[in-house]
Amino acid sequence: MRAQVLPDAPTVESLLAAAVAAPSIHNTQPWRFRLDRDSQVLEVHSEPARTLPLADPMHRAQYLSVGAALFNLRLAAVHRGWRPEVRLLPDPHVPGLLAAVRLTGPLTADDQPCDPGLHEAIARRHTSRMPFTGRPVPEPIVAEMAAAARAGGARLHVPDIAGTRRLLRLTAAAEARHHAHPGRTAETLAWINPPGAGAPYGIPVTALGPPDAAGRMPMRDFTGALPALRRPALWFERHVQLALLWTSHDRREDWLRAGQALQYVLLTATARGLRTSLLHQAMEWPDLRTAMALPRPRRCHPHVLIRFGYGPEGAGTPRGPGIVAEAASSARNPGDPRTANSGRVRGVRW
Ligand SMILES: Cc1cc2nc3c(=O)[nH]c(=O)nc-3n(C[C@H](O)[C@H](O)[C@H](O)COP(=O)(O)O)c2cc1C
Repeated sequence: MRAQVLPDAPTVESLLAAAVAAPSIHNTQPWRFRLDRDSQVLEVHSEPARTLPLADPMHRAQYLSVGAALFNLRLAAVHRGWRPEVRLLPDPHVPGLLAAVRLTGPLTADDQPCDPGLHEAIARRHTSRMPFTGRPVPEPIVAEMAAAARAGGARLHVPDIAGTRRLLRLTAAAEARHHAHPGRTAETLAWINPPGAGAPYGIPVTALGPPDAAGRMPMRDFTGALPALRRPALWFERHVQLALLWTSHDRREDWLRAGQALQYVLLTATARGLRTSLLHQAMEWPDLRTAMALPRPRRCHPHVLIRFGYGPEGAGTPRGPGIVAEAASSARNPGDPRTANSGRVRGVRW
């Protein structure tokens, strides 16, 4: 029998650093991680303090974000030679516990190795809200992205020209509704940080993009009632390349799978030299989300629209520590002196 080996603190830190590099709605980073050294389990929790009550009342976008972080964590574990065994929603009595990752290993020759290009893409991937060149993405790369979505437990639909127009029209309708809703614009604006704010959560104005001078591309306008923050308009690519990520069910576990699939697609695109940005606005209005679904198959639950192509790299956004390194048994056995300590990821206790 193989002796039980625990990953050391630098390994755990590197896994968590990879996890928090994931995209999240409005950079809310709605996750929290907890270590249980007894069971060798890394728990992935949602962070109740960083939600969007108006735009995301069901927490679907929050689950997508946590799913993306979970995918990075899994990829980083394999990269470091550990086999991550993942259970989604492992305890119905703890609704905020979204996943449990048990690290076993080390990997053997029988295990599938980590794709180094994909792992390297974790740090290089940024949302790019600038205009792309319009250069067509070769079909094999698009096929790779679709295969990544499928492997992650979701599907990717790449629409034709008419389909692209339809999805953009619905997204533009969502943008228009958003702007007519003072509560929603205020909620979004609250996550935008002025230059030099140094806030670890939310989006710095430097990472925002311009509106489309032609008015065709419904990029999200985060600036709401503060047009002074808005960048001058630029011309976006005429031939927009989009992909709709969807699943055939719409349960909490499907949202977590969709988030993992989303990140698999984004990293695949990044590894192939593409830039990506997300258009989620239509998903924030139930009727528009329904309208975004494909006419076939009958069960199609859309999650997010991915815009991809060649163009400038997106600006980096900050990350908070977001991580509570606390032995789970401290919560379960508060009297246990072994579990009295808790700390941040830097100097993680394992
Ligand atoms: C579920 C989800 C929805 C998002 N929706 C949008 C969107 O509608 N518009 C946008 O510009 N960015 C969107 N983003 C991207 C986030 O704003 C971005 O991931 C975050 O600011 C962190 O920046 P990064 O991706 O460059 O690391 C979304 C991300 C996620 C995970």
